[in-house]
Amino acid sequence: MSIVETIKARRTVRAFRSDPIADDVVNELLEAATWAPSHFNAQPWEFALIGRQTRDQLRPIFRDMLENGPLKNPEVPEDKKAMMRAFMQDFGGAPVMLAVSCPPATIPSDIVDYPLATGAAIQNLLLAAWERDIGGVWLSIGQHPAVKAALGVPEAHSVIGVLPLGYFDAAPPALPRTPAADKLKRLP
Ligand SMILES: Cc1cc2nc3c(=O)[nH]c(=O)nc-3n(C[C@H](O)[C@H](O)[C@H](O)COP(=O)(O)O)c2cc1C
Repeated sequence: MSIVETIKARRTVRAFRSDPIADDVVNELLEAATWAPSHFNAQPWEFALIGRQTRDQLRPIFRDMLENGPLKNPEVPEDKKAMMRAFMQDFGGAPVMLAVSCPPATIPSDIVDYPLATGAAIQNLLLAAWERDIGGVWLSIGQHPAVKAALGVPEAHSVIGVLPLGYFDAAPPALPRTPAADKLKRLP
């Protein structure tokens, strides 16, 4: 697959098979992440592989977040709520969970550059995973104080993504994209 084909084929996956991901494959994904660009090659990303004990701490926090958020919202369709209820039991049964964070900025431009570079690293990782038939979901739950505490991430750091990862049976359908032309303006 070309890189563009992989970019277009990637989907967010929220239900996983229990097959483990081999350690060397996890390491390859982390390695791919580190080839993201970053301001002055700062490489601000920090990775944490989430073990069972930490995951057991995260699960009720995540469940509360959904129950007090989207699951309470009458505008969220029932099929989406059913998907969330299944997913929240144990993060879709993902065999691997990873947290990706970055430290606080020391210069003003890094306030955005650190999180952006870390996001680029996450996208690299998700694409490298997809190429190996591994799916994932980028959860933006990491800034929740209880999640940060469970992950042992210092308050001043930013958790950019929590990523359940695993092999899966079926890729979800593609969600529609707005053509780039609709988002483009041409400057004189
Ligand atoms: C920064 C970011 C935060 C996201 N947070 C969540 C999240 O908290 N929960 C979730 O289920 N999906 C989350 N997603 C996944 C998006 O819902 C998904 O990428 C989007 O619906 C498009 O679907 P696709 O990835 O299959 O193309 C997040 C994605 C990004 C990039």
